[in-house]
Amino acid sequence: TLSQNLSLFSFQKQQNLAPTQFIWPKEDLIQAQEELNAPVIDLAGFLSNDKKVIDATIELLRAACMEHGFFQVINHGVDEAVIQAAHDEIDTLFDLPTEEKLRLRRQRGSVWGYSGAHADRFAKNLPWKETYSFRFDHASKPEEKIVVDYFDSVLGDSFKKTGMVYQIYCEQMNKLAMTIFKLLETSLGVEAEEYYSKLFKEGTSIMRCNYYPQCEQPELVLGTGPHADPTSITILHQDQVGGLEVFSDNKWQSVRPCPNALVINIGDTLMALSNGKYKSCVHRAMVNSERTRRSMVYFVNPKEDLVLRAPEKIVEADGVERKYPDFKWADLYEFTQRHHRVDGATLENFFRWLHP
Ligand code: SIN
Ligand code: FE2
Repeated sequence: TLSQNLSLFSFQKQQNLAPTQFIWPKEDLIQAQEELNAPVIDLAGFLSNDKKVIDATIELLRAACMEHGFFQVINHGVDEAVIQAAHDEIDTLFDLPTEEKLRLRRQRGSVWGYSGAHADRFAKNLPWKETYSFRFDHASKPEEKIVVDYFDSVLGDSFKKTGMVYQIYCEQMNKLAMTIFKLLETSLGVEAEEYYSKLFKEGTSIMRCNYYPQCEQPELVLGTGPHADPTSITILHQDQVGGLEVFSDNKWQSVRPCPNALVINIGDTLMALSNGKYKSCVHRAMVNSERTRRSMVYFVNPKEDLVLRAPEKIVEADGVERKYPDFKWADLYEFTQRHHRVDGATLENFFRWLHP
């Protein structure tokens, strides 16, 4: 039946992918038995003037970052209407004819374009999904409308609205990211240095729309295989279908969609920039037989060629040694493109690769 199902999944079929390529090894398909008690951080609390409330919020955040590298935020300041519009535009992209998707196929080494189940770094096997990615520069001014121009130039005039919607979505994601960096600084005791706030003023984020069609045999496939993000932080919007899972306490735990919440996870870059104090979290996405699932991911990255190192104060405060050598985002990114996570693309292996 996977092969019948694949005939509906026309983009994949056009690329001559065999249904068997989507079938993952048993050990990767172990189902989650539990739900993660995912900490929900109320940003209204952080933005309030009440010191007690602020301290409690920070404490919750610190515990979440140390334990899971994962939390959710509510009252995050991103307009509901903006999220809804961006979610609705996902279908505009994935309803395009297959020929058009093939024309816009993401090339190796490139950030933007379609990807339909090509074996990427997350995958031992092919993921059951289609994605569309593009980039957003943090330092761009709203009047520059870089996302609008991008959609205009690759997809044409009729995609002005789509471009506009994702332009605004990215601007708001970027703003939220800066708030979260402030929160992280405070939780690590380096708010005075504004180290992350300054660092991420510039940089390039990657925005990705994910489309996970329903599957007749969901127990054989994965939407996104197990991986940790190489990013600093990732801001995810998942719809109400469900499918996101986090590996924590040595087991897979599902993350129940929470209306109006955005999911934040710590990536490898921030793990290094916190001297290993905050954990980069391993996660995956499941599919189901009933409904197509859609998600939007905003990956926050620093400038490519900046030298990155955890602030002295964090290292000192922990009374431990500096855990990682200096590095650049460009190197970490290159490493993740060359090595599959499943082959051990961990932070430790990255530094071994960087300094053989
Ligand atoms: C990802 O981690 O890349 C995707 C997660 C999701 O779709 O929920
Ligand atoms: Fe991810």
